[in-house]
Amino acid sequence: MRGISKRQFLRSVGGIVGASAMLSFASLENAFAQASTIAPDRLARDNDFWQSLRKRFTPSSDFIQLENGYYSLAADPVLDAYVGHVRRINGLSSFYMRGRQTDDMLSVRKELARLLGCADTEVIVTRNTTESLDTVIAGFDWKPDDEAVMAEQDYGSMLDMFKLQARRHGMRNRVVSLPLHPRSDDEIVELYGNAITPKTRLLMVCHMVNITGQILPVRKIVDMAHQRGVPVMVDGAHTFGQLDFRVGDLDCDYYGSSLHKWLGAPLGVGLLYVRRERIKALWQLFGDAGFADDDIRKLNHSGTRPVATDLAIIDAIRFHETIGIERKSTRLRYLQRYWTDQVRGVKRIVLNTPEQAPRSCAIANVGIDGVAPAELARVLIDKYRIFNVAIDSAGVRGVRITPQLFTTNAELDALVKALQEVAAAAT
Ligand SMILES: Cc1ncc(COP(=O)(O)O)c(C=O)c1O
Repeated sequence: MRGISKRQFLRSVGGIVGASAMLSFASLENAFAQASTIAPDRLARDNDFWQSLRKRFTPSSDFIQLENGYYSLAADPVLDAYVGHVRRINGLSSFYMRGRQTDDMLSVRKELARLLGCADTEVIVTRNTTESLDTVIAGFDWKPDDEAVMAEQDYGSMLDMFKLQARRHGMRNRVVSLPLHPRSDDEIVELYGNAITPKTRLLMVCHMVNITGQILPVRKIVDMAHQRGVPVMVDGAHTFGQLDFRVGDLDCDYYGSSLHKWLGAPLGVGLLYVRRERIKALWQLFGDAGFADDDIRKLNHSGTRPVATDLAIIDAIRFHETIGIERKSTRLRYLQRYWTDQVRGVKRIVLNTPEQAPRSCAIANVGIDGVAPAELARVLIDKYRIFNVAIDSAGVRGVRITPQLFTTNAELDALVKALQEVAAAAT
């Protein structure tokens, strides 16, 4: 572990990690240390290697799980450590809450800040992206003439929160529509730029669009918006733990993510980053007048919370860093290309995800001409045991397919065969 010894790590989370979790971490670290000389793109194609990683996960054997974008199961060592946290905190109960809790939470924030590349005074642990981004949207001091810019392909809860601000404060939302297959970054930057007016006070952009998996040129959008004096909030629900970046690379003002998606933390944890200078102007959603206006912890008072889950973030980071973000990202993109390359160009099959490699990673969306998305999703699960999600909104008609590190090529072969058969049968 970078910057913190194993002993310190154990102490920092209260010596909670059980012996079995420690053992599985150690053997995993060993396996990845042995692979350290292999280049990530070569390792990405080594199915035997990744098959051995699958043994660290316990997905259901009832179906093929290709809907890992909603929530992705934690690996067994993380789960074991998490259960250890639950047991110990349950035993200590309020003694823990009144004692170690504050220091432990600071350790968690420090670890997240290290991974994100920001100061620990700029990040808090939330329950999920919804809580993180809605805290920002509703924390603005909106005035009737103000405007915000967003895309119709953004996530529903954030769009709804902006609509609520419009109803409540009389501000106005300008909604752009993203092309499924952009010709260039400039086309997207221009789209957002055209929606900015002198009244714009906030621009929201997805780092990765959840319904298609399209990665947007966030840094270029941020640069353009900043030149016009507009702060940018990035929806990073799908990118923290999936893509290799630091928040400084994006230069955004606010960033939110869910750690139960790609970091592999147990269900119900997220993060919110707010650039230091932007903290003061945000109003908190929950009552807390105990912190200075420029202290990010003012935004974090959600009452008594399941701290065992927060602690497991450290275990998830350890698992994540053992694999390494470059190896992880490369394998995830390989898995997506493995199946999309086989169906691209097949009669009636329509890919709703850009073809250029840097514009997507794990997630892709596929439709079949003449088959409604809900029907395709139903056939895939009922006939082929492939779990997926139908998308039929904002100009996107298809099913979203999201592999994870434990997904095998055989599972993706089953998907390809299923899509080919459904397409061949469509009239
Ligand atoms: C782009 C995007 N933003 C926000 C969210 C909300 O995440 P959560 O439900 O973890 O708050 C999601 C969930 O899938 C998403 O895909």
